[in-house]
Amino acid sequence: MVGSGPELDPDDLPDGLVVADALGRVVCFNRAAARLTGVQPGAALGSGLEDVLPLEDLDGRRWWQLTDPYGGLAVRTSQPERNLLLPGGREVLVSARYVRSRPKGPVEKLVIALRGTEARRRTERSHAELIATVAHELRSPLTSVKGFTATLLAKWERFTDGQKRLMLETVDADADRVTRLIAELLDISRIDAGRLELRKQVVDLGAAVRRHVERKVATGIPEDRFDIRIGEPLTVLWADPDKVDQVLANLLENAVRHGEGTVTIEVAPAKEVVEAPVWERPGTPPRIVEGTAVTVSDEGSGIPEEAVPRVFTRFWRGSRRGGTGLGLYIVKGIVEAHGGSIRVDRAPGGGARFRFVLPAGIPDFML
Ligand SMILES: Nc1ncnc2c1ncn2[C@@H]1O[C@H](COP(=O)(O)OP(=O)(O)OP(=O)(O)O)[C@@H](O)[C@H]1O
Ligand SMILES: [Mg+2]
Repeated sequence: MVGSGPELDPDDLPDGLVVADALGRVVCFNRAAARLTGVQPGAALGSGLEDVLPLEDLDGRRWWQLTDPYGGLAVRTSQPERNLLLPGGREVLVSARYVRSRPKGPVEKLVIALRGTEARRRTERSHAELIATVAHELRSPLTSVKGFTATLLAKWERFTDGQKRLMLETVDADADRVTRLIAELLDISRIDAGRLELRKQVVDLGAAVRRHVERKVATGIPEDRFDIRIGEPLTVLWADPDKVDQVLANLLENAVRHGEGTVTIEVAPAKEVVEAPVWERPGTPPRIVEGTAVTVSDEGSGIPEEAVPRVFTRFWRGSRRGGTGLGLYIVKGIVEAHGGSIRVDRAPGGGARFRFVLPAGIPDFML
């Protein structure tokens, strides 16, 4: 075994482990294997592999006869993972390794890994749901584009210039929606694959917040709807400015669109305990993040208590005020990719309060 430390107990493995000796007798049968097969380790040990694990492929062929680990090609060293059936139709993912003491020598040990298929099923189901939702989201603007262009082409002379302009404006807005949706989906696939690239540089969060509010005011939202509070002294923040902009734009847009009343944006130095994101190993301890916190609160109806765990999931939306429900999922992905965290609760005034913390993130060479 590579590495030192206490010896590995097969019962601690999350996957099923079955080992057979040179004669095909089971010499190891861990707890996960018992759970997956329903066979007790006591009954398995010492018995023939074919009796303990009578696996069949999806066409009903006996797996051990088909692959013939002890008699087959002497150069074979493993079997890739396959979806096989146990008696009663229970599915398991099976892979095997043929251990020989010398190349082309007889198989001395057969090591078999068993995994349940539930986890894979679940991801497949969520992929299928994602595809269905994306198709639906893309179809509605495209249906509208197609409807207006077809109408214009068929009856061009019958419309006034004003009517034509109105239709083209709708087509234009729908095309923007499709483009934005595709950009969001690309962000999501990068976030999900852990490939969100961060081009970090020094970011002035206070200035970024002011710029975003100015932009909102320029689009016609009254200036007095915003209250900016910048605390001092802010630590230097090393982050990806474009991504930070995306986060701020999303949160401000949400506060204006889904919330009501004054939108308060606070920027302040922060030092807080942050739970490890879900993709890290279970049991990963919380970290202390030192950096800058931004709080965006409004005076609308807020997020209903029962919906709080869902706001950051993709495609969840509470109201029907436009939007695809991807904004907050991307916001969370960006914040966590920076090593920060985000949460939502209720503002003292009753509306939603989103708070995210970004670690200072100063690179080693600057310390
Ligand atoms: N400030 C807020 N006040 C009340 N509800 C909010 C607020 N911010 C978000 N929500 C609720 O959370 C849902 C999800 O927000 P999210 O930003 O992910 O999606 P969206 O705004 O609907 O669409 P998108 O951001 O993709 O255009 C919203 O549909 C809304 O119901
Ligand atoms: Mg949004």
